[in-house]
Amino acid sequence: MSKVVVFDHPLIKHKLTFIRDKNTGSKEFRELVTEVSMLMGYEVTRDMALEEVEIETPICKTKSEVIAGKKVGIVPILRAGLGMVDGMLNLLPAAKVGHIGLYRDPETFQPVEYYCKLPHDVSERELIVLDPMLATGGSAVAAIQFLKDRGAKSIKLVNLIAAPEGIKAVEEAHPDVDIYVAAVDEKLNDHKYIVPGLGDAGDRLFGTK
Ligand code: PRP
Ligand code: URA
Repeated sequence: MSKVVVFDHPLIKHKLTFIRDKNTGSKEFRELVTEVSMLMGYEVTRDMALEEVEIETPICKTKSEVIAGKKVGIVPILRAGLGMVDGMLNLLPAAKVGHIGLYRDPETFQPVEYYCKLPHDVSERELIVLDPMLATGGSAVAAIQFLKDRGAKSIKLVNLIAAPEGIKAVEEAHPDVDIYVAAVDEKLNDHKYIVPGLGDAGDRLFGTK
């Protein structure tokens, strides 16, 4: 079963309040999303394997640890997932970035694919899928299936705000994928927007409407 990590760090809660606020403009919204993504990345990477290396400090030779194991791939779901990339890359500068373009059909609420470009060695990477919103879960479930169809074996999903319905959908479709969310909100409205949520994440990031 998926592990679901809901963050309770005061800094994340504080920044999320301003991300939710409709009076927060795009510039500040983008900055806050980057900051929260970086803070979340600290926990998302907690289980990364380490290996011992020998180094020399100005005082003596010593053994110390560096990140080992698989390489990382960051996969934002376009568009809104792009807002979370810089925060993750700040922590994982050597990660490769793949892109999956999906939009949610406003009538059917089903995800529609329009773009996919991934690192060639996706099956050898620990993948971190980014999307600020996990609403019905349709987009995340489809993106994860995409990655699996192309050989991905290790996938984590990172969202800022999730609805209970979205978490359930991902857990059921992909029980091997752990989910990291900054907040779990109450419900979805009739348009399948998260309540209270933050509105349309892509529009708020990029100033479109
Ligand atoms: C939003 C969001 C997710 C999706 C969540 O994207 O960024 O990808 O909706 O909804 P779901 O869980 O019900 O699938 P949107 O389709 O609005 O596209 P955009 O990022 O290009 O604005
Ligand atoms: N997509 C968004 O951008 N916001 C929601 O609340 C749901 C889907």
